[in-house]
Amino acid sequence: MAELRHPPGTFDVMPAESGPWQSVVTTFAGVVASAGYGLILTPTFEDIGVFQRIGESTDVVRKEMYDFLDKGQRHVALRPEQTASVVRAFIQHRPTTPWKAWYAGSQFRFERPQAGRYREFHQVGIEAFGSADPDLDVEVVALGWEFYRAMGIHRMELLVNSLGDAACRPSYRQLLVDYLNSRHDELCDEHRDRIADNPLRVLDCKRPECRSVTASAPRQVDHLCADCAAHFARVTEGLAALSIPFTMQPTLVRGLDYYTRTTFEYAGTALESAQNALGGGGRYDGLVAAMGGPDTPAVGFALGVERILLALTAEAVTPRPVALLDAFVVDFSGGAAARDLTARLRAAGLRVDRSFDARSPKAQFKAADRSGARLALIVGPDEAAAGTVALKDLQNVGEQVSVPSELVVGEVTRRLI
Ligand code: HAM
Repeated sequence: MAELRHPPGTFDVMPAESGPWQSVVTTFAGVVASAGYGLILTPTFEDIGVFQRIGESTDVVRKEMYDFLDKGQRHVALRPEQTASVVRAFIQHRPTTPWKAWYAGSQFRFERPQAGRYREFHQVGIEAFGSADPDLDVEVVALGWEFYRAMGIHRMELLVNSLGDAACRPSYRQLLVDYLNSRHDELCDEHRDRIADNPLRVLDCKRPECRSVTASAPRQVDHLCADCAAHFARVTEGLAALSIPFTMQPTLVRGLDYYTRTTFEYAGTALESAQNALGGGGRYDGLVAAMGGPDTPAVGFALGVERILLALTAEAVTPRPVALLDAFVVDFSGGAAARDLTARLRAAGLRVDRSFDARSPKAQFKAADRSGARLALIVGPDEAAAGTVALKDLQNVGEQVSVPSELVVGEVTRRLI
């Protein structure tokens, strides 16, 4: 029988490697909780209509969606991103605004797998609903920035742009279409045919032939209406006030069609350009209404967990390990002490593991070392007879001390502080 393996473009994260994953989510949760964002969980699949509103002309919707008819003949899709799901939940539950949510979870896109590009990948993100204030854009951008800093990522550039709104985008779009049509023959094969359906995407093309055309294309930032210009000025002023360096990138349009006004991307400068988008986001003031909800401005971002881990490796940063266990019980007096002690310590909120199958003391000590626990709690026949437990610090060399069994919870807790 052929060996069973995970599907192309997916991967396993084994417990030995999952420490950095946990530290991404834990650090992110800490940063965004400090600004009032609450955790939201939404289904991994939704009615396909939820995602079609992202924009019928984006690659994410046109070519990359995992969609299928389920056994009830419903046309559903695995989420390719989570903003649309959060908007759907917002419309369905109508929370009072301002409403701020964060998430962490798998996303699915049928892309060509390569380093840093997977078919199932993970994002952490935030979405804030109900305010058009540019200071909220600044808060959102700053939280992403702060998170990367907290992780120890420093080789990073923040790119920002404004895509205008319903008042100024249509006339800019027409200018761009006219310009691209005038240089139609110079564009790459893919984009020559996409001028009419999505001219902004041409600006994002990395091929040299398109780049030489788009270098002198009209720029949305030069054609903003007064309201959008004032909004963008306040955003850049806010970033400067918070000492967050940024680069204006007039060709930054991003891969999803729902953006209005501010768009931004965090680019990892220690990574290859094909995978250097560590995360990105922007304002999407029209999406809630386009999906059938009340007119509600919103802004958010999503950061790619795998890309964050690649950046950490490229910068040779080892995230602070998340200690998995406080204590490991080694019992070679028959097993009852391990059973009772483990239960008592866990009931006191401590993270504890033990060996099973009456393994030899040597095998149990080896397991204790491998577990990464701070302390070993040892019960041999002598301790069992005396009603004591021997405590050994596994991470700092020190004396083994003997503690009466009934005082062990207090002693372990004291040592962990
Ligand atoms: P996105 O730019 O499509 O935006 O994805 C955000 C991040 O997810 C990317 O910058 C990248 O780090 C990671 N990513 C995307 N595709 C892959 C892949 N195939 N493999 C590995 N990592 C990937 C969004 O998803 C928007 N929902 C962001 C947003 C939230 N805008 C407003 N709110």
